[in-house]
Amino acid sequence: MKTLRLSFSVLLLFASPAWSGYLEYDQDVLIPQDWTHVGRIDPSEELQLTFALKQQNVQLLEETLRLVSDPDSAQYGKHLSLEEVASLVCPSEITQKVVRHWLQSHGVSDCLTVHTQDFLQCTMTAKVAERLLPGSRFHRFSRDGLSIARSSAPYSVHDDVHQHLDFVGGLHRVPPPRKNPSKKQQQSNTGLHVGVTPAVLRARYNLTAADVGSAQNNSQAVAQFLEQYYHPADLAEFMSMFGRSFQHLSKVDRVVGTQGGGKAGLEASLDVEYIMSTGANISTWVFTNPGRHETQEPFLQWMVLLSNMSDLPWVHTISYGDDEDSLSTAYMMRINTEFMKAGVRGISLLFASGDSGAGCRHMGKEQNSFRPSFPASSPYVTTVGGTSFKNPFKVTYEVTDYISGGGFSNVFSMPNYQVSAVQAYLKTIAASLPPKSYFNTSGRAYPDIAALSDNYWVVSNRVPVPWVSGTSASTPVVGGMISLINGQRLSKGLPALGFLNPRLYKLKGQALFDVTEGCHLGCLDEQVQGKGFCAAPSWDPVTGWGTPNYPELLAALLTE
Ligand SMILES: *[C@@H]1O[C@H](CO)[C@@H](O)[C@H](O)[C@H]1NC(C)=O
Ligand SMILES: *[C@@H]1O[C@H](CO)[C@@H](O)[C@H](O)[C@H]1NC(C)=O
Ligand SMILES: *[C@@H]1O[C@H](CO)[C@@H](O)[C@H](O)[C@H]1NC(C)=O
Ligand SMILES: *[C@@H]1O[C@H](CO)[C@@H](O)[C@H](O)[C@H]1NC(C)=O
Ligand SMILES: *[C@@H]1O[C@H](CO)[C@@H](O)[C@H](O)[C@H]1NC(C)=O
Repeated sequence: MKTLRLSFSVLLLFASPAWSGYLEYDQDVLIPQDWTHVGRIDPSEELQLTFALKQQNVQLLEETLRLVSDPDSAQYGKHLSLEEVASLVCPSEITQKVVRHWLQSHGVSDCLTVHTQDFLQCTMTAKVAERLLPGSRFHRFSRDGLSIARSSAPYSVHDDVHQHLDFVGGLHRVPPPRKNPSKKQQQSNTGLHVGVTPAVLRARYNLTAADVGSAQNNSQAVAQFLEQYYHPADLAEFMSMFGRSFQHLSKVDRVVGTQGGGKAGLEASLDVEYIMSTGANISTWVFTNPGRHETQEPFLQWMVLLSNMSDLPWVHTISYGDDEDSLSTAYMMRINTEFMKAGVRGISLLFASGDSGAGCRHMGKEQNSFRPSFPASSPYVTTVGGTSFKNPFKVTYEVTDYISGGGFSNVFSMPNYQVSAVQAYLKTIAASLPPKSYFNTSGRAYPDIAALSDNYWVVSNRVPVPWVSGTSASTPVVGGMISLINGQRLSKGLPALGFLNPRLYKLKGQALFDVTEGCHLGCLDEQVQGKGFCAAPSWDPVTGWGTPNYPELLAALLTE
């Protein structure tokens, strides 16, 4: 929990003109309290920083994404190759030259670039980094055996390069908190309840034994940024216990990056085990803490990697997020552009909506608002919420899981594809909406879709573990089903689904089980009393359009 924020406006008043060039003036620079301050970094220690160079044609990229993702457009499915994306967004000659010259003039020459030329990853000593980025002061912090170098103060860049950079990575944002998916305590007799297993999911979402992958060269991925890893033996054990009723694979085809030094973890096992249960018999990759320095911003490293690989799985599921208000606008805007770059290539990115409902931000004395989370709030990803069974003893219909993340962005405005759905919700439910001061009705609203997120069985460290919950479970479940549909499309010679939302919203809930009951968490205060938004017929900011009815969804998405 981040409780304190540094007031940048005060700092700026005292800034000398030489370092007036802040790229991320609104970035939270406070290191969360679960990190221990070790001390100032040795000036000769090496750091790795990521420079996000200004791209060209971002508007054209956005328009292209709209055209290739809108089923009513003649360009639907005409995805771009990485080369084509590169020639679209690649920074101008002048930008590349100015940035390289600036780095070289500080003696920074150990840099790697990517295919799209819009990121540079450079290694330099702390002493050089602090000179290059006036204001920065690097310290070492540790948490559970993980050690990182971060700056305790905001950085600036020279005026000459200011207009050529979006941000510099590796100074402020820290790896996500060590968390395990929540294990809800169950008071009642545990013997008879329906713990979620692959068979339960496949029954609920109407997957038959024949609904497994068969297309050549279809693939899916989970991206994990954890201090834990999935264990291949756990996956094999899980499949031997729970995979009897359907054709499946029991091995990951490719691990990209290094599996951390930690233990096999519940969350790491969860993603892999469940994407391979709905997306059964489909080649699966795991992206895990990629990059040369494992303590760098792992999520950013993954994004950089996507711009450097021409051959990628079609579907990626990711359970990672941070409070929008802790991140700089420049960073979120640029990451959003990176999502567009993936989308135009036909890649579907599915993010977990989060496990804190609407969230809560304390703005002042007795003044709260909901707290949207990014990347869940990006208009260019598909965000997945969570549900539970109405009757925990039966595979029946689903209601809201109160942890399901959802709400309205304060950064991204509402994309066209969802305007009518969201307006209809706001209108229908007007009388029972939380006070307007808690959320921003002009923002991108999420999630888009949902699936069960409660009471999963996971095998971790060879032991089957019950009661595992979170949208990190529902996200790979939906991802696997999207992969199955992609496989059917590829077999018919159709392009992959790519960025799903424009097409998903045009279905208007067709082929999905609408979730209409229950509310998720919000602020624990007098005004809203722990309640965020509530589910309602059709789209809502708790469960999106609802959960997949696979055969109908397949039929709806198998045309053109
Ligand atoms: C991108 O890939 C190329 C080879 O294809 C490699 O030389 C380069 O170092 C990679 N960049 C990064 C940032 O890893
Ligand atoms: C799918 O599941 C629902 C509810 O479990 C059921 O009513 C329906 O008949 C099933 N089949 C199809 C094709 O929708
Ligand atoms: C599993 O996938 C492979 C292709 O990767 C395919 O040849 C095989 O037929 C599939 N199995 C089933 C039961 O569809
Ligand atoms: C597609 O197939 C080729 C050749 O078998 C393989 O090298 C490549 O990794 C596959 N791509 C994906 C994304 O699975
Ligand atoms: C509400 O969201 C819009 C973007 O949709 C943004 O421009 C505006 O600043 C937000 N308002 C607040 C109070 O955060």
